[in-house]
Order: sequence, then structure tokens, then C-alpha cells
Amino acid sequence: MQKVIQELVHRRTSAQMGGGQRRIDAQHQKGKLTARERIEVLLDEDSFEEFDMFKTHRCSEFGMDEQKIAGDGVITGWGTINGRMVYLYSQDFTVFGGSLSETHSQKICKIMDMAVQNGAPIIGLNDSGGARIQEGVDSLGGYAEVFKRNALASGVVPQISVIMGPCAGGAVYSPAMTDFIFMVKDTSYMFVTGPDVVKTVTNEIISAEDLGGAETHTKKSSVADAAFENDLEALRQVRRLVDFLPLNNKDKPPLRPFFDDPQRIEHSLDTLIPENPNQPYDMYELIEKISDEGDFYEIQEKHAANIITGFIRLEGRPIGVVANQPNVLAGCLDIDASKKAARFVRFCDCFDIPVLTLVDVPGFLPGSAQEYGGIIKHGAKLLFAYAEATIPKVTLITRKAYGGAYDVMSSKHLRGDLNYAWPSAQIAVMGAKGATEIIHRADRHDPEKLAQHTRDYEERFSNPFVAAERGFIDDVIQPRSTRKRLCRAFASLRNKQQENPWKKHNNMPL
Ligand code: HXC
Repeated sequence: MQKVIQELVHRRTSAQMGGGQRRIDAQHQKGKLTARERIEVLLDEDSFEEFDMFKTHRCSEFGMDEQKIAGDGVITGWGTINGRMVYLYSQDFTVFGGSLSETHSQKICKIMDMAVQNGAPIIGLNDSGGARIQEGVDSLGGYAEVFKRNALASGVVPQISVIMGPCAGGAVYSPAMTDFIFMVKDTSYMFVTGPDVVKTVTNEIISAEDLGGAETHTKKSSVADAAFENDLEALRQVRRLVDFLPLNNKDKPPLRPFFDDPQRIEHSLDTLIPENPNQPYDMYELIEKISDEGDFYEIQEKHAANIITGFIRLEGRPIGVVANQPNVLAGCLDIDASKKAARFVRFCDCFDIPVLTLVDVPGFLPGSAQEYGGIIKHGAKLLFAYAEATIPKVTLITRKAYGGAYDVMSSKHLRGDLNYAWPSAQIAVMGAKGATEIIHRADRHDPEKLAQHTRDYEERFSNPFVAAERGFIDDVIQPRSTRKRLCRAFASLRNKQQENPWKKHNNMPL
């Protein structure tokens, strides 16, 4: 017995060394943690239960039968984050560059299946040279097995990907199918074809960082939701995100202790809106002043900054926030903003997280660039997302809600449950100046008359009361009492039940 135990200890120690000290040192020299160190940071202390530590590949090509490393380049299992269960895999770059073999993929698939069956999130820590070159099609098949599970798990359990090294070729498509992608600055990159192939095929010379680094994917492509300075910071932020999410689509979002009075009155909000309707202000101020302890977890901060998305808590309960940002592009909706917000609303709807929509939107961004880019189809995504969502939806119009954008931003007509407006709200087909120039075209050469028409229009429509008279706005509220009113609104919707007609799935405009 003693001998067997010794062998177990020996095998464990050897598996824990992955590709050996030399490669571990090389990993550290790049400023990266090892796969095991990452798990230690991500999970609660001593909570990790590992599976398949001794699994090895079965490839015999290219002398591979001489090179077997227990675990085969990926560490898998489950553990807890602040006491709540998650499944995870962490690719070990020190073992064949973290490349994915048939058996490596089987390990990932096993924990994905368990996560779906047992209802807990899946977190993937990616650091891999892609398909294990020595294995050929076995590896490609392995990837497809993972992709299939990503699709099937979507909307069942939250899926989070952290890119902590290379992620190239078809390998990018597993993270791409998950709910959130985080990157680490300077050490991670994602692309379908790398710089060398790009140069050969198109003659374009571009660095890996410019092609697929964290800056590129958080700002330009929107593939990634956030980028962090280093491994430690990224993993800590994943822990923070998990605290906002339910474990699965039948679980309730987690309730946390809170130390912020739901009745808190915030007098400074009475003066948030500038006198001049064309002057911008910072929507972050409102978000922070209404949320528990001012805590806001932002998603896609760097991309389409004209709309803000992220999570807050009200009375300890997670709430998704979608907010126009008057400070950027006057808060207009454009292609990027529509896609960003639509995806966020759909995530919240999948996992029963109520949504608060803060509206100050002058309309859709006009212009040929937007039309050629398909703003019709992309704007429809947001409309579609709000219309189909059955989660509690509370809307607050702070200032402008013009035209189609009024309809889109979780209006009453799209099953907004409670729609509030501040007294400064202006709910109309368009701004007063634009409106009078159209309906009083005959007076277009008479600036005085036009100015009078504009004043008349403002008087009549630039307020929340016409909409309130029709019941499209449930109440016009004092800015200072916003936190209190929103807490009460969401509390009143806690037992909301709403179902859409049966269908296999919808056909949203992709
Ligand atoms: C097998 C691999 C590997 C791979 C790296 N290694 N990638 N082994 N299959 N795909 C091994 C290396 O041989 C090396 O082994 C160790 O990992 C570290 O690699 P280095 O090159 O020394 O590291 P570095 O200089 O940091 O470069 C990392 C890298 C590079 C950029 C990832 O290794 C690379 O370009 N690898 C190939 C990437 C690739 O073309 N993958 C296939 C993509 S196509 P030793 O023993 O020396 O430590 C794909 C298709 C998926 O993934 C399709 C899904 C549908």
C-alpha cells in the first residue's frame, strides 16, 4: 500500500510540474502566471477539485509516444468563487504550448458537460498555441466538440473566457461563443490568421499586438469585453463578475449584503441636467449615485462609449444597466452601440437579471456610413432584444427621448414594466428645431417666425407630460429620489411572470 501511495504522490508532483521548471521560468519571464497559479488566484483557497490529472495523449506520430506529460496541457475541475461553484479549465502553455489534442479537448468537454448538468458557470483560462500540430484532424475534431458544447451551454450556464496568451486560428471560436471575453494587456492576442499569413496573403504588414491585442479587441472589434494589466488583475475581475451572475438559467441572481440605504436621497441629481439641452453631462454620475455603494461593473467600456452597459446592485440584487452617454456622440445610437447594448440585454434576459435603462438619446446617428454599414439591421437588434426580453425592465428618461430611439430604449410599448421620466425629459419625434423646420417649411426664410414656432413646439412637446398623459410614462419623478424609486420599482417586479409564445427559436436580425 505504501508503495502505491508513494507512486500517487510521485505522479501528482510530476503532473503539477507540467512541462518542467525551465518552461515554468519562461512563462514567468513573460510576466505570466502558470496555469496552476492562475487557478489559485481565481478560486477560493483550497476549493479546487481537479479531474483527469493523469490523462495523457494517445498520439504516436512524430515521436509523440516518447513525450507524454500527465494532464496533457490543460488543468480541469471545479472550485468556488466566494463560496459559489464554478467549473473551469486552465490551459498549460508549458505543455506542448497548451495546444489542444484529442485528449485535451476531452478533458474540457467533460467539465463542460458537468457544468451544464450541475448548473454552474464555465470559466476557460486560455493560453494555447492552437490545434496540436502532431495530431491533425483529431485535434480539429476536438475543437469542434468544444464549439458544439459552447453553443449548447449558451443561455444555460454563464460562460466566461479569459485570454491569457496566444489564441489563434479556429481556436478563437470557442471564446467567441461564450458570454464574456477578457484579455490581458501585452501578453494575450486573438486572431483567425496571424501576422505572417496576413503578410503572405494580403501584403499587409502588421504586428500581432495591432492585429489582435487587447487594445484592438476592446476598442475596435468589440470581440473582448475588457482588458486588464496583468493575470492577477484579470482573475480578480472575473471573481468580481461572477458575484453578479446566477449559477444557471434556473437560479436567481445572487443576493449580497448591502450597506447603502435604499431610501437614500441624492440632492445633487436635481442639478445633473444642464440648463442648455445641447450641453452634455456624464451619465456615469447618475449610475454611480443610484447604485449600492456606487459599485458599477462595466462591460465593454472602451467600445461604443456612446452607450454604457454593466452591472450594479440595488438592495443587494444585481441589475443590468443600459444607459445612453450624452458625453459621447451626444448619446446617439449607432451600429456599434446598438450591437453592444443588444447583446448585453440578451445576456441579462438569458439569466434573469433585471434591466434598468437610462435614456438620453437624440436619435440614431445619421449618415451614409451608418446606412451602408446596416444601421437598420443592427438597430433592429436592440429593438428585438428589448421586445423579446421577459425580465423586469425599468426605464428612466432623464432628458431626450426622440424618434425611433424613444421606442427602442425599453419603452412602454416594448413591454417596459415601469417607465419613469425626470421633469427635464423631452419625449418627441425629434428636437424642436428640426421639427419646426419641417412642419413650418413655408416660413423657412423668416428666422423670427421659425424661432417662435420652435418655442411653441418646445412648450408643447419638450416635456414628459404628453407621454405621461397617455400612460406611456408611469410617473414623473424627482431626480433626487431616483434611487428610492428604482429600488421600489425593482422590488415590486421580483415575482414578475411573463412568457413569450412557443417557438423553436426566434430569427433575430443577425
Ligand atoms: C504543438 C506546439 C504548438 C502546437 C506551440 N507548441 N504551438 N506544439 N502544437 N500548435 C509548442 C512548441 O513546439 C514549443 O515546444 C512550445 O509549445 C512553446 O512554443 P514556442 O514557439 O517556443 O513559444 P512562443 O515563442 O511563445 O510562441 C508561441 C506561438 C508559437 C506563437 C503559439 O508556438 C506558434 O506559432 N505555434 C503554432 C501556432 C499554430 O499555428 N497553431 C495552429 C493554429 S490552427 P517546446 O517543446 O520547444 O517547449 C488552429 C486550428 C484550430 O489552431 C481549428 C479549429 C477549428
